[in-house]
Amino acid sequence: MNLWVGLVCLFPEMVSAIASAGILGRAIRRGEMGLEAFNPRDHASDRRRTVDDRPYGGGPGMVMMAEPLLGAIGEARQRAPSPPRVVYLSPQGARLHQSGVERLARLRSLVLVAGRYEGIDERVIELAVDEELSIGDYILSGGELPAMVLVDALCRLLPGALNNEESIQTESLLDGLLEYPQYTRPERVGPLPVPAVLLGGDHGAVRRWRRTEALLRTWRRRPDLLTSRTLSAADSALLKAGLLAAGLPPKPRAEALGPNRAGIQGE
Ligand SMILES: C[S@@+](CC[C@H](N)C(=O)[O-])C[C@H]1O[C@@H](n2cnc3c(N)ncnc32)[C@H](O)[C@@H]1O
Repeated sequence: MNLWVGLVCLFPEMVSAIASAGILGRAIRRGEMGLEAFNPRDHASDRRRTVDDRPYGGGPGMVMMAEPLLGAIGEARQRAPSPPRVVYLSPQGARLHQSGVERLARLRSLVLVAGRYEGIDERVIELAVDEELSIGDYILSGGELPAMVLVDALCRLLPGALNNEESIQTESLLDGLLEYPQYTRPERVGPLPVPAVLLGGDHGAVRRWRRTEALLRTWRRRPDLLTSRTLSAADSALLKAGLLAAGLPPKPRAEALGPNRAGIQGE
């Protein structure tokens, strides 16, 4: 097994459908990834299996109690094949990016903690959590879906999880660019034909077209991605030619870039 994930959550039934389908389901069935749920309710100290209580100091909602959570994290730690990194999915965490997924995919064991209600008792974070990760600046009602977003992204990076290794290489963001547009049959959909270059059988031309489209798409939609990298001379030339052909200016909109502006090499 390449990666074992222990998921501490109150609603394990939410994750089982996601964990049984598609690439993730196959990786689990093949034993390339392990996924086990640990329910804090199993570590509650009363007959009603209480896991939440009112916040000290007052205020709305309920807070997940420390002890059932610490119990479930402890159980997951014991089940893990090696000492795990413990991640709490939280809107207050660092934003999850592909580079963060790549970093976590290199681990052997991971425990993901999903909160509910108004969140979890802060002392759990202090005592048992190594890092907090957010999947975006919006609030979900629980951490199960964020945890499964991370699990799905991790699974795609595990050796052997994807049948076609190439699709890992070209995927958006893996080399810091958005992916080029994709087409499949039929050759025409309404007024829109498939770009002629993709039908011509010239593999070099297809490669150049795709690279240019990836550069142009990133330039238009996510110019911020280009600020953190220097384009190679070949990429700069492709982008310059693509921008010229599309009648676009050689610098992206300033407001989309922020203070570190990208420019084409040689501009
Ligand atoms: C309703 S939220 C609690 C939010 C908390 N009151 C706050 O303001 O930080 C309940 C749980 O959903 C999960 N969650 C919600 N939004 C998330 C996000 N954007 N990323 C990761 N986890 C999130 C967390 O596990 C959180 O404990």
